[in-house]
Parts: sequence; structure tokens; C-alpha cells
Amino acid sequence: MLIKTLVIAVVAIQLVSARPGVENNQDGDESMHEVRRIKRKIPGVSPDEENTAEFWRKKAQLILNDKLQTKENTNRAKNVILFLGDGMSIPTLAAARAYEGQKKGQTGEENYLSFEEFPYTGLSKTYCVDTQVADSACSATAYLCGIKANMGTIGVTGSVPYSECEPSKNESTHVTSIGRWSQLKNKRTGLVTTTRVTHASPSGVYASVADREWECDTDVKILGDDPKECNDIAYQLVNGETGKNLNVILGGGRGKFLPKTIVDEEGQKGKRSDGVNLIEDWLEQKSGVNAEYVWKRDDLLNLPEETDYVLGLFESSHCNYDMDRTKDDPSLAEMTEAAIKILQKGDDGFFLFVEGGRIDHAHHDTKAHKALDETVAFSDAIRRAKELTNSEDTLIVVTSDHAHTMSVNGYPTRGNDILGISGIADDQLPYSTLSYANGPGYRKEEDGKRHNISEDNMQDKEYKFPSLAPLSSETHGGDDVGIFATGPWAHLYRGVIEQNAIPHIMAYASCVGDGVTLCDQ
Ligand SMILES: *[C@@H]1O[C@H](CO)[C@@H](O)[C@H](O)[C@H]1NC(C)=O
Ligand SMILES: *[C@@H]1O[C@H](CO)[C@@H](O)[C@H](O)[C@H]1NC(C)=O
Ligand SMILES: [Zn+2]
Repeated sequence: MLIKTLVIAVVAIQLVSARPGVENNQDGDESMHEVRRIKRKIPGVSPDEENTAEFWRKKAQLILNDKLQTKENTNRAKNVILFLGDGMSIPTLAAARAYEGQKKGQTGEENYLSFEEFPYTGLSKTYCVDTQVADSACSATAYLCGIKANMGTIGVTGSVPYSECEPSKNESTHVTSIGRWSQLKNKRTGLVTTTRVTHASPSGVYASVADREWECDTDVKILGDDPKECNDIAYQLVNGETGKNLNVILGGGRGKFLPKTIVDEEGQKGKRSDGVNLIEDWLEQKSGVNAEYVWKRDDLLNLPEETDYVLGLFESSHCNYDMDRTKDDPSLAEMTEAAIKILQKGDDGFFLFVEGGRIDHAHHDTKAHKALDETVAFSDAIRRAKELTNSEDTLIVVTSDHAHTMSVNGYPTRGNDILGISGIADDQLPYSTLSYANGPGYRKEEDGKRHNISEDNMQDKEYKFPSLAPLSSETHGGDDVGIFATGPWAHLYRGVIEQNAIPHIMAYASCVGDGVTLCDQ
């Protein structure tokens, strides 16, 4: 009984001290009680235990001990894996770790995503040459090619304005990625994504274009340019110097490879106008080597042992969200595992790019539930990669390209459903813990009041979380994003760094590229 009283007292003090201004706000009193009455619903960490000093001191000492044991790894990085959570902002991490923890029956906040346990962390500044807030194209150019560029452009310098074919034809504006730098040192290379393999982020590995929308020849034409002058991204993936040499290409986007006259394995028509079948071209190019084209999960999981090259296109467009996967759709973790198994067969190591590409799409729709779920699937893929590799010789870097506008707000009680209601606002209507600064979740009632979310099914995976300003597609955010690293030279990922330094550090550790490397010393 005494303990219970103490607990209530402690919670009350925390509530008051955590809310400057609330105590002198008479109108706010009722809402405060409302919040306080929300009971701890989810069992997990014993509250009694957490209310002892001993519990927290022990936890802190374990963390301290762990930090003291961490030794800087100055080995040469034989292998490098770059994991990119598209649009995986820092609030997305806090919310996703609670989401995953709550699914495991815990209160959630104490949970760690797989990569949050990596020993080194830094922050990445994501602005581009011409914009404060990045898109996935200029940012891919930064974290893969090592330079900042204009929004919407990929693999070209800032001298190329967005969507201008002519200046982008000048090859001296083209830059290559750490994928190419690694190939030049005989490393195997690959890319894995849940988006179309021709989408902005993976394109950063192999393409140089003035416009991220130029995914196939039809797209270049629709946008008013000539695909013979400025080659489309899918064409570059199959015929470009970097694309041609990739051992692994896994993701969605079959449509961009096939002519309109062809219907693919899943009944979808191709998108190309030039009559070119790039899947056939790829197979023809690889006729002398062990290469496989696959379009469904079973075939990916049962690749012949000797496979050295794989092209896996699992959807006509983007891969399904992890929550919507069907039997023919591999998970991101499964694609990552298949990629690593092929890449590990090389003698000189490998570079692999893996994108959790649809965290971003879910956020654009303000479907926070899906965004968090995709983040957990991304975390699962990283855990798998960690299990399949050795941190003595493999540098794993996890980061994001840009933030989003979702915030984790209010004073919800410990263990409160992360997808639920945070409290009651001054208009006496409830507000959600997760909400967006803008987006399609904007809703206002006829009487001018905010929409009452009490009876909304916020657990529905398609639920659009509330947004302040109406926009058909929620925007990116300009905040810094995290960098999490483990393995050789992971300790260089610390402090606040420019996004374009990311591949330079990987290049240093793995002795590739034109900059200074470990092997020069
Ligand atoms: C190509 O670009 C480089 C660097 O931006 C520039 O110096 C050169 O004059 C350009 N060449 C042509 C033919 O425009
Ligand atoms: C919001 O909806 C709930 C559930 O229908 C209702 O109990 C509550 O009174 C509503 N709030 C306001 C301010 O209308
Ligand atoms: Zn986006």
C-alpha cells in the first residue's frame, strides 16, 4: 500500500515537473486529470522495480561497462553494407522501437531496434545544394557518391539543374558511387530495395540522371526529353558500367524493364515504349556466367548454390509493404540474406546497399502504423546481416536520407499504445501521440472543429494520422538523421557530419575510391 502511494506521488511529481505552465492553467486542469487517469494497460517491466534507484543504477552501470569494453576496430573493412531507411527520421525510431516492444508485450519504450545497439552513432546533415530539405535523389548522390547535388538529380554534380537533359549529357558532370569504387577493387557489389530498383535511392548506386523520374524510356519521353539523348535509369542499370557489374539486384520495378507489349509473370503490362526487354538483355549479357532471373520468393530462396549474379524483380512496381506481403513476396531480411550469400563468395569482399524504401511511402500517406512496421522489417534485415557477417571484417552503417514531419507528442503514460491517443487538447478533443505537420490526414468537421478521433480505428494499418496542414502527400523534414555503425572504423561515424562524408568514410575503411584510404598509410 505504501509503495503504491509512493508510486502515485512520484508519477504526480513527474507529471507536474514535466509540464511547465500546466499547473497555473486552470482550463488545462481537466485534461491533465484525463491523462493521469489512463492506467498502465500493458504489462511488461515491473513498475515497482522501475521505481527503485537500484534498477536504474544497475541498468546504467551495464551501459557504462559496455562502453568501457568497446574497442576501436582499426581493421581493414573487407565488406561494407550500407543500410538506408528511407525517411527514417529520429521520431520514427523512437516510435518504431515502442511499436516493436509493445508487440512483444512490453511497455515498449525500453526496447531497442537491432541497429540502435550498434556502438557508434552520429548525426547526418541532409540539406542539398539547392534545398533545405532533401529528397531521396540528391541525398542518394550524397551518401552513395560522396557529393551534394540538386534536388531530384542523381549521380551528377550541382552544375546540372533538375530535369535538364542537355547539361547532364556532359560526362564530366557525372559522378560514381562507392558501388563502382568497390567494383574497381574487385569487390562484389549488390543492391536490395523494397521500392522499384530504378527508384531514387537505389539509382544512386549506378545511375547519372538529371531527373529521378526518368525510370524508363516512356518516362523520359513524357517529361519532354529524348531517351536516346538521356538514357533512362533502367537502361543504365542493365547497360551502364556500374549496373552491368552488379552481382545482386533485388527489389521491385519489373515494369520499367519490359515493353508495353509484354505481360509479366503476375499479369502486369510492361512500361517501355522502345520495345526493349531489359530482363532478356541482362540474361543475354550474363550468358557466360552463373546468372539467374527470379520473380518470386520461392525462386529466390532456392537459388542454385553456384549463382554469382541475380536479378530479382518481385513486383511490377514497388514491393508490397511488409504487412501486405503475399506468398510470392520475399521479406527485406530474406532478400538481404540471399544477397549476402552471393556476395560473400568473392575473394576480395563486397559492397552491399540495402534500402528499407517504403518507410517513406507510408509517411507520405501519414500511415504511421505502416511506417513503424516497415521500420521494424528494416531492423530485422539488419539483424540478419549482422548474424551473417563478422564485425571484425565487415563495416555496417545504417542511416536515412531525410526526415519526415511526424512527431511523438503529448505526455502519454508509460506503455500507452504508441498508435493511440495521447491526451485531451484545449478544444476538449483528443489528440494522438503520432501526428504530422502536414499531409493527407488533415480533417476538419463542418462546424470548424477538429475531427474527433475517439471513434477512429487507429489500429487500422491504412489509418491516416492527423495532419496540421492539408497536403495530398506529406512532406519530408529537414532535421538531421541518425547514423549507426559497427565494424572496422565505425568509430569515425561520430559527431554531426555532412551526409556526403558517409561513403568517404566507408571508402577509407575498405580501401576503395580516390580519396585517402587506410591502405595509403
Ligand atoms: C562539361 O562540364 C565541365 C565541368 O562542368 C565544363 O568545364 C565543360 O566546359 C563542359 N563541356 C561542355 C562541352 O559543355
Ligand atoms: C468525442 O467522441 C467521443 C466518442 O464518441 C465522445 O465520448 C466525446 O464526447 C467526443 N468529444 C467531444 C468534445 O465531442
Ligand atoms: Zn519521400
